[in-house]
Amino acid sequence: MILSTSYNEIEILENIKNLHCKKKRFHLDVTYSRGTIYKNRKEIEPRIKTDKNYFENIDAQMNTKNLPIKSESIESIIYDPPFLCRTGKAINRDKTAIRYGYYTSRTEQIEEYTRSIEEFSRVLKTSGVLIIKIGDMKGNEYITSHVDMINIINEKGLTVIDIFIKVRNRNINQTDRNQRVAKQNHTFFIVAKKKRKYTRR
Ligand SMILES: C[S@@+](CC[C@H](N)C(=O)[O-])C[C@H]1O[C@@H](n2cnc3c(N)ncnc32)[C@H](O)[C@@H]1O
Repeated sequence: MILSTSYNEIEILENIKNLHCKKKRFHLDVTYSRGTIYKNRKEIEPRIKTDKNYFENIDAQMNTKNLPIKSESIESIIYDPPFLCRTGKAINRDKTAIRYGYYTSRTEQIEEYTRSIEEFSRVLKTSGVLIIKIGDMKGNEYITSHVDMINIINEKGLTVIDIFIKVRNRNINQTDRNQRVAKQNHTFFIVAKKKRKYTRR
Protein backbone atom coordinates (compact mmCIF):
# COMPACT_ATOMS: atom_id res chain seq x y z
CA MET A 1 0.00 0.00 0.00
CA ILE A 2 1.26 3.50 -0.85
CA LEU A 3 1.09 5.86 2.11
CA SER A 4 0.90 9.63 1.85
CA THR A 5 3.52 10.21 4.55
CA SER A 6 7.09 9.00 4.77
CA TYR A 7 10.38 9.80 6.49
CA ASN A 8 12.10 9.03 3.21
CA GLU A 9 12.10 11.40 0.20
CA ILE A 10 13.26 8.66 -2.21
CA GLU A 11 10.30 6.51 -1.20
CA ILE A 12 7.95 9.43 -1.92
CA LEU A 13 9.52 10.08 -5.34
CA GLU A 14 9.34 6.37 -6.22
CA ASN A 15 5.69 6.25 -5.18
CA ILE A 16 4.88 9.34 -7.28
CA LYS A 17 6.69 7.84 -10.27
CA ASN A 18 4.85 4.51 -9.96
CA LEU A 19 1.42 5.89 -9.12
CA HIS A 20 1.26 8.99 -11.33
CA CYS A 21 3.99 8.82 -14.02
CA LYS A 22 3.30 5.34 -15.47
CA LYS A 23 6.53 4.15 -13.77
CA LYS A 24 8.56 6.24 -16.24
CA ARG A 25 11.57 8.28 -15.10
CA PHE A 26 10.75 11.94 -14.41
CA HIS A 27 11.14 13.88 -17.65
CA LEU A 28 12.49 17.26 -16.46
CA ASP A 29 13.76 18.72 -13.18
CA VAL A 30 13.83 22.52 -13.57
CA THR A 31 15.46 23.28 -10.19
CA TYR A 32 18.00 20.45 -10.17
CA SER A 33 20.83 22.23 -8.33
CA ARG A 34 23.08 19.35 -7.17
CA GLY A 35 20.26 16.80 -7.34
CA THR A 36 20.56 16.02 -3.65
CA ILE A 37 16.99 14.70 -3.41
CA TYR A 38 17.79 11.79 -5.74
CA LYS A 39 20.62 10.47 -3.56
CA ASN A 40 22.43 9.17 -6.70
CA ARG A 41 19.58 6.75 -7.47
CA LYS A 42 19.62 6.46 -11.28
CA GLU A 43 16.07 5.09 -11.54
CA ILE A 44 14.69 8.22 -9.89
CA GLU A 45 16.97 10.81 -11.53
CA PRO A 46 15.19 12.90 -14.17
CA ARG A 47 15.99 12.52 -17.86
CA ILE A 48 16.69 16.28 -18.24
CA LYS A 49 18.22 18.43 -15.49
CA THR A 50 18.13 22.21 -15.59
CA ASP A 51 18.54 25.12 -13.16
CA LYS A 52 18.70 28.90 -13.35
CA ASN A 53 22.26 28.78 -11.98
CA TYR A 54 25.24 26.77 -13.19
CA PHE A 55 25.80 23.38 -11.55
CA GLU A 56 28.20 20.73 -12.79
CA ASN A 57 25.67 18.00 -13.61
CA ILE A 58 22.89 19.96 -15.29
CA ASP A 59 22.06 19.75 -19.02
CA ALA A 60 21.22 23.45 -19.46
CA GLN A 61 20.67 26.69 -17.56
CA MET A 62 17.02 27.76 -17.80
CA ASN A 63 14.80 30.13 -15.88
CA THR A 64 11.41 28.61 -14.99
CA LYS A 65 9.77 31.98 -15.69
CA ASN A 66 10.57 31.65 -19.38
CA LEU A 67 11.43 28.13 -20.49
CA PRO A 68 12.96 27.70 -23.98
CA ILE A 69 10.88 24.54 -24.42
CA LYS A 70 8.20 23.69 -26.96
CA SER A 71 4.59 23.82 -25.72
CA GLU A 72 2.96 20.48 -24.85
CA SER A 73 6.23 18.51 -25.07
CA ILE A 74 7.05 17.42 -21.50
CA GLU A 75 5.61 14.42 -19.63
CA SER A 76 6.55 15.32 -16.05
CA ILE A 77 8.26 18.17 -14.22
CA ILE A 78 9.89 18.34 -10.80
CA TYR A 79 9.86 21.84 -9.26
CA ASP A 80 11.69 22.38 -5.96
CA PRO A 81 12.01 26.17 -5.75
CA PRO A 82 13.55 28.21 -2.94
CA PHE A 83 10.93 28.62 -0.23
CA LEU A 84 12.70 31.05 2.07
CA CYS A 85 11.58 34.63 1.95
CA ARG A 86 13.83 37.03 3.80
CA THR A 87 13.16 40.68 4.13
CA GLY A 88 15.61 41.47 6.96
CA LYS A 89 19.30 42.19 6.43
CA ALA A 90 21.23 40.15 8.98
CA ILE A 91 19.59 36.78 8.34
CA ASN A 92 20.17 36.96 4.59
CA ARG A 93 23.48 35.24 5.01
CA ASP A 94 22.45 31.92 6.52
CA LYS A 95 23.59 28.69 4.88
CA THR A 96 20.22 27.44 3.58
CA ALA A 97 19.46 30.78 1.93
CA ILE A 98 22.87 30.90 0.25
CA ARG A 99 22.76 27.28 -0.90
CA TYR A 100 19.17 27.16 -2.19
CA GLY A 101 18.33 30.79 -2.90
CA TYR A 102 15.64 32.98 -1.34
CA TYR A 103 13.15 35.72 -2.21
CA THR A 104 13.37 39.21 -0.81
CA SER A 105 9.60 39.74 -0.57
CA ARG A 106 6.41 37.67 -0.54
CA THR A 107 5.34 39.50 -3.69
CA GLU A 108 8.48 38.38 -5.52
CA GLN A 109 7.99 34.81 -4.24
CA ILE A 110 4.34 34.56 -5.34
CA GLU A 111 5.03 36.25 -8.69
CA GLU A 112 7.82 33.81 -9.46
CA TYR A 113 5.76 30.75 -8.46
CA THR A 114 2.82 32.04 -10.54
CA ARG A 115 4.87 32.76 -13.66
CA SER A 116 6.69 29.41 -13.36
CA ILE A 117 3.51 27.35 -12.97
CA GLU A 118 2.05 29.12 -15.99
CA GLU A 119 5.13 28.02 -17.96
CA PHE A 120 4.79 24.43 -16.68
CA SER A 121 1.16 24.45 -17.75
CA ARG A 122 2.27 25.51 -21.22
CA VAL A 123 5.11 22.99 -21.72
CA LEU A 124 3.39 19.95 -20.19
CA LYS A 125 1.60 17.52 -22.49
CA THR A 126 -2.07 16.92 -21.78
CA SER A 127 -2.07 14.39 -18.88
CA GLY A 128 1.43 15.58 -17.99
CA VAL A 129 2.31 15.72 -14.30
CA LEU A 130 3.83 18.49 -12.19
CA ILE A 131 5.47 17.58 -8.86
CA ILE A 132 6.17 20.50 -6.51
CA LYS A 133 8.22 20.21 -3.35
CA ILE A 134 7.39 22.98 -0.92
CA GLY A 135 7.77 23.75 2.78
CA ASP A 136 5.82 26.27 4.82
CA MET A 137 8.82 28.09 6.22
CA LYS A 138 9.41 31.69 5.23
CA GLY A 139 12.50 32.34 7.31
CA ASN A 140 12.05 32.62 11.00
CA GLU A 141 8.27 32.43 10.64
CA TYR A 142 5.89 29.88 9.20
CA ILE A 143 3.40 30.66 6.47
CA THR A 144 1.21 28.59 4.15
CA SER A 145 3.21 28.36 0.93
CA HIS A 146 1.66 24.97 0.09
CA VAL A 147 -1.77 26.64 0.03
CA ASP A 148 -0.41 29.42 -2.22
CA MET A 149 0.94 26.74 -4.56
CA ILE A 150 -2.40 24.90 -4.69
CA ASN A 151 -4.24 28.16 -5.44
CA ILE A 152 -1.79 29.00 -8.26
CA ILE A 153 -2.04 25.45 -9.67
CA ASN A 154 -5.84 25.79 -9.84
CA GLU A 155 -5.62 29.29 -11.31
CA LYS A 156 -3.27 28.09 -14.08
CA GLY A 157 -5.53 25.28 -15.22
CA LEU A 158 -3.85 22.29 -13.56
CA THR A 159 -5.57 19.96 -11.08
CA VAL A 160 -4.08 18.75 -7.80
CA ILE A 161 -4.36 14.95 -7.84
CA ASP A 162 -2.28 13.94 -4.81
CA ILE A 163 -0.27 15.21 -1.84
CA PHE A 164 2.59 13.45 -0.04
CA ILE A 165 4.22 14.62 3.17
CA LYS A 166 7.86 14.03 4.00
CA VAL A 167 8.22 13.98 7.76
CA ARG A 168 11.48 14.77 9.49
CA ASN A 169 11.89 12.52 12.51
CA ARG A 170 15.05 14.09 13.80
CA ASN A 171 15.53 17.77 14.35
CA ILE A 172 19.19 18.58 14.12
CA ASN A 173 18.92 22.29 14.88
CA GLN A 174 16.33 22.51 17.58
CA THR A 175 15.41 20.85 20.82
CA ASP A 176 11.79 20.02 21.70
CA ARG A 177 11.90 22.94 24.10
CA ASN A 178 12.27 25.60 21.40
CA GLN A 179 10.06 23.96 18.76
CA ARG A 180 7.48 26.49 17.57
CA VAL A 181 5.11 24.61 15.26
CA ALA A 182 4.65 20.96 14.26
CA LYS A 183 4.84 21.77 10.55
CA GLN A 184 8.48 22.83 10.76
CA ASN A 185 9.14 19.09 10.56
CA HIS A 186 7.45 18.37 7.27
CA THR A 187 7.60 19.17 3.57
CA PHE A 188 4.85 18.74 0.98
CA PHE A 189 5.07 17.05 -2.41
CA ILE A 190 2.08 18.34 -4.39
CA VAL A 191 1.21 16.35 -7.51
CA ALA A 192 -0.85 18.12 -10.21
CA LYS A 193 -2.06 17.03 -13.60
CA LYS A 194 -2.72 18.91 -16.81
CA LYS A 195 -6.14 17.68 -17.80
CA ARG A 196 -6.80 19.99 -20.71
CA LYS A 197 -4.85 21.57 -23.55
CA TYR A 198 -3.05 24.78 -22.51
CA THR A 199 -4.75 28.11 -23.07
CA ARG A 200 -3.21 31.30 -21.65
CA ARG A 201 -5.21 32.74 -18.71
C1 LIG B 1 15.76 24.24 -3.10
S1 LIG B 1 16.97 24.30 -4.37
C2 LIG B 1 16.71 22.79 -5.24
C3 LIG B 1 17.41 21.63 -4.58
C4 LIG B 1 17.46 20.39 -5.44
N1 LIG B 1 16.14 19.84 -5.66
C5 LIG B 1 18.34 19.35 -4.83
O1 LIG B 1 17.87 18.28 -4.46
O2 LIG B 1 19.55 19.60 -4.71
C6 LIG B 1 16.29 25.53 -5.44
C7 LIG B 1 17.00 25.66 -6.77
O3 LIG B 1 16.15 26.45 -7.61
C8 LIG B 1 16.96 27.23 -8.43
N2 LIG B 1 16.13 28.34 -8.93
C9 LIG B 1 15.69 29.41 -8.24
N3 LIG B 1 14.93 30.21 -9.02
C10 LIG B 1 14.89 29.61 -10.25
C11 LIG B 1 14.28 29.93 -11.49
N4 LIG B 1 13.54 31.04 -11.63
N5 LIG B 1 14.46 29.09 -12.54
C12 LIG B 1 15.20 27.96 -12.41
N6 LIG B 1 15.82 27.60 -11.26
C13 LIG B 1 15.66 28.42 -10.19
C14 LIG B 1 18.13 27.65 -7.56
O4 LIG B 1 19.25 27.96 -8.36
C15 LIG B 1 18.33 26.39 -6.70
O5 LIG B 1 19.33 25.58 -7.27
